[in-house]
Amino acid sequence: MAFKKSIPSVGMLALYAMQFAPSVLADVEFCPNDTPLSCSSPSIEPSCCFNSPGGAFLLTQFWDHDPSIGPSDSWTIHGLWPDNCDGSYEEFCDESREYSNITAIIEESGRTELLSYMNKYWKDNSGDDESFWEHEWNKHGTCINTIEPACYTDYTAQDEVVDYLQKAVDLFKTLDSYKALAAAGITPSNSKTYGLSEIHDALSNIHEGFAPYVACDGDYLSEAWYFYYVRGNLITGQYEPSEKLTESNCPETGIKYAPKSGGNNSTSPPTTACPAPARR
Ligand SMILES: *[C@@H]1O[C@H](CO)[C@@H](O)[C@H](O)[C@H]1NC(C)=O
Ligand SMILES: *[C@@H]1O[C@H](CO)[C@@H](O)[C@H](O)[C@H]1NC(C)=O
Ligand SMILES: *[C@@H]1O[C@H](CO)[C@@H](O)[C@H](O)[C@H]1NC(C)=O
Repeated sequence: MAFKKSIPSVGMLALYAMQFAPSVLADVEFCPNDTPLSCSSPSIEPSCCFNSPGGAFLLTQFWDHDPSIGPSDSWTIHGLWPDNCDGSYEEFCDESREYSNITAIIEESGRTELLSYMNKYWKDNSGDDESFWEHEWNKHGTCINTIEPACYTDYTAQDEVVDYLQKAVDLFKTLDSYKALAAAGITPSNSKTYGLSEIHDALSNIHEGFAPYVACDGDYLSEAWYFYYVRGNLITGQYEPSEKLTESNCPETGIKYAPKSGGNNSTSPPTTACPAPARR
């Protein structure tokens, strides 16, 4: 438990609770307010209060129209990924914490709301949500150093899995891409097309002015990745929206935003499970 800091005062704890209170307070390391922002310096050692080497976090979303996945008026969750501050990333970092029972883990934790939200908004495009969640945790979640078991003050096996999924959901709820686009007049259509800069502008409105990376599948809008740096621990830290580290593969103009649950006249091929380059 080399990461433990001295026990904070009651006043500090109260301040901490006011400023950083997540939806469910996890028993993770307390981090002081002057904790440096992730990716701010390569010389800072990884700790439970400093995400490294994966210090950039991406909350990633799909717009899956063919097949149509999830509610027709919402994007869906892809994942929450650590990146090495430069667009590269580590994956599958701890085989001993890879799981094939994510649903059971959430059920055992008692977070039924989390599970029902995931059943609606964290959808696999081939219908196997459990496998998709396993893939996201095993590949990306295990690489986040600030949620390793040693960072918990009162650890029960798989606590970090549920905290990680909850964090992804909590971030997703603050990033309503559908609504942001609609507010700028960008709505799903079989006939209209849109420009990349207007999509960037519309989505930057919900991310403190920083446009997410948007991906296209051919001409079809298909993903959005919102970047953050984090001050402190992944679960209890402060998220600061940041510049994307990857350039869009979409055309500058003529982007299609296809309606879901229609698929009428769509010529885009069905997207495949994780191995495809953009689907990670
Ligand atoms: C999930 O799987 C892990 C590893 O096999 C096991 O230790 C744990 O008890 C399982 N959890 C539930 C709720 O089944
Ligand atoms: C798709 O086309 C069929 C037949 O033309 C029509 O009945 C249906 O309403 C259309 N669906 C959407 C979402 O446009
Ligand atoms: C779909 O294609 C048919 C014929 O190709 C056309 O008549 C129809 O208007 C199209 N529907 C939409 C929603 O674009």
